[in-house]
This record gives sequence, C-alpha cells and structure tokens, in this order.
Amino acid sequence: MKENIERIRSEIAAGIEAVKGGTRQELFELKMKYLGKTGEISALSKGMRDVPAEERPAMGKLVSEVRAWAEEQFSATEELLKQKELEARYKSERVDVTMPARFAETGTLHPVSIVKKEIIECFAGLGFEIYEGPEIEKDYYNFQALNIPADHPARDMQDTFFITGEYLLRSQTSSGQIRVMENKKPPIKVLSPGRVYRSDSDATHSPMFHQMEGLVVDKGITLCDLKGLLDEFARRMFTSETKTRLRPSYFPFTEPSVEVDLSCHNCGGKGCRICKGTGWIEILGAGVVNRRVLENCGIDPDVYTGFAFGMGLERIAMIKYGVNDMRYLFENDVRLLKQFKD
Ligand code: DAH
Repeated sequence: MKENIERIRSEIAAGIEAVKGGTRQELFELKMKYLGKTGEISALSKGMRDVPAEERPAMGKLVSEVRAWAEEQFSATEELLKQKELEARYKSERVDVTMPARFAETGTLHPVSIVKKEIIECFAGLGFEIYEGPEIEKDYYNFQALNIPADHPARDMQDTFFITGEYLLRSQTSSGQIRVMENKKPPIKVLSPGRVYRSDSDATHSPMFHQMEGLVVDKGITLCDLKGLLDEFARRMFTSETKTRLRPSYFPFTEPSVEVDLSCHNCGGKGCRICKGTGWIEILGAGVVNRRVLENCGIDPDVYTGFAFGMGLERIAMIKYGVNDMRYLFENDVRLLKQFKD
C-alpha cells in the first residue's frame, strides 16, 4: 500500500505540473481521478479494511496525509489557473483609451442649400413669409399673368420646357408672385425659393437651377424701398462694406425694371478677376411691379404699389464661394462638398 501511496503522490505531482499549462477543466478531471468518489485516494481509504489492524493507524495517517497534500496541491493549482485565465481575459479585453475614436462620416449641406438658408434667414428677419409654388406650372402663372402673352418676344429670354400647350416646367419663380397675390391681399412681404428649368447648359447655365423670388406690395412702396432692402441684404449676406447699384433693364412684369449689381466683395470695387475688372457683380433682376400684373391679381394699382426681385441661388453661391463653373455645383463631388461644413 505504501508503494501505492508513493506512486499516487508522484503521479499527482507530475499530472499537476503538466496541467499548469492547461485548463481548469483538465485540472478538475485530474482531481476526480484521485479525489473523486471512485478516485484512487478514495480507493485507498476503502482499502484500509484489508490492512492488518496493527498497521492501520500508521497507514491511515499516510492516507490522510496524501489526501490533505493532494487537496492542497489541487486548490493551489486551481488558484493559479484562475489567475492565469483572468490575466488572459484582461489582456484580450483591454481597452486602449489613447486610441483615436472612430468617427461616423457626417454629411454637409450643399452650398446652394447653405445660401438658400442664409437668404431666408436674412429676409425672415426682415418680416418676410416663405411661399413655395409648384414646379409644374400653368403657362398663365409662368407667363401670361406676368404680362408675357403667348406671342410676346420676352418668352425667348427663357427657353422653356413645355409639357403640354398649357403646362410647363416653370422657368422662373416669378410665377409664385401671381399665386401669392391671388390669395393674399396687401400688405404682402413674401420670399419664394424653388427649382426652375430652362433648356440651357454651359459653364454658367444649367437646365435646372434655383431661384429666390421676393415680392413686397403695400401702399406707397417705391423703388427706393427696393434699394434700401437690397442694401441691407447685401450687407448681411456679404460684408458690411458691400454696396448695390441699380442699372436700367427690361422685364415685362416690372416697370421700371432694373438689374442689380453688388460692389465686388473681393476687391472692394477696385476691379479684379472675379468682377472682370469692373468692380461690380450682377446678382439679380428687379423692379416696380407692373400695374398690369397687380390688375391681373385683383389688386388696385392706384391704391397699392410694390416691388419684386428674383435671383439665382447658384449664382449667389458661385460669387460667395468663388466657384467659377456652375457645373461643379451639380457634380456633387464630395471633395468639393466637404469644403462647405458649417
Ligand atoms: N424672373 C426673372 C428671371 O428669371 C428675374 C426677375 C426679374 C424676377 C425681375 C423679378 C423681377 O421678380 O422683378 O430672369
């Protein structure tokens, strides 16, 4: 029996040495082999029956010593393996708080949207309401009510996409003026943004572009009010030094009609590449609302007067951001768009 105990002891010692590089499950299986109910050390206890009575106390002592020793070995190794597993887990789950965070790509507003937002904020602050008319429009609203009858040569100013004889893709947001005046009596202060369409395509024209229309109708409104409003707009939208200049022009729906220039924000009026040496940049068309247009909308032109203006948003964006080809604004190349994070 003694040899048996020594054999068990050295087997356990070797087994434990081997399992130190293994798992707790392997250690458990080893433990069961010796200390389990049917394990070898338990078998030793049962075998005591066959030991002669005079050897029993000494032998019993040896058996309980080996049991205590084995239990001690197993629990110490268990502790060791636990510690190892924990270390491995800490290692694998370690968070490096100094690593740069992963950022989600965020979108940006398109420069035309930015300009649209800024213009709306500017005019909303001056008491304007926003009206958005339909893009598929009747010839009546796009032309006739604006004093452009069917045979009027001014129709050639805008190469229009007709859908049927009566319906077209609106070529100007001026159509919104009529829709507003038909439904609202003065005082009117409306801003009307939207897409417009013309059969035109080159570095400064696109078949679809955006306009912003403005309309003010009340008693005693004059061209001076228009000039004052546009000066304020120019200062807010560009720089506090920016000035406006009115030049005579022609639009069937305004009389008199003007074209409005801004003093060049780049050179301050001295003349540069951006203003083509003139010191001025054309930004919009405007004028005093033609009597006929007011009449067409049931507004008495002897009581009320008004002014209107219309500008291209792409043009404003190009001027503001120094973009020299309008097509850049429609290609949606992210390298360009990313520059407009606000
Ligand atoms: N609708 C004109 C265009 O597209 C711009 C314009 C000029 C609008 C004069 C107006 C205006 O309201 O009064 O070219």
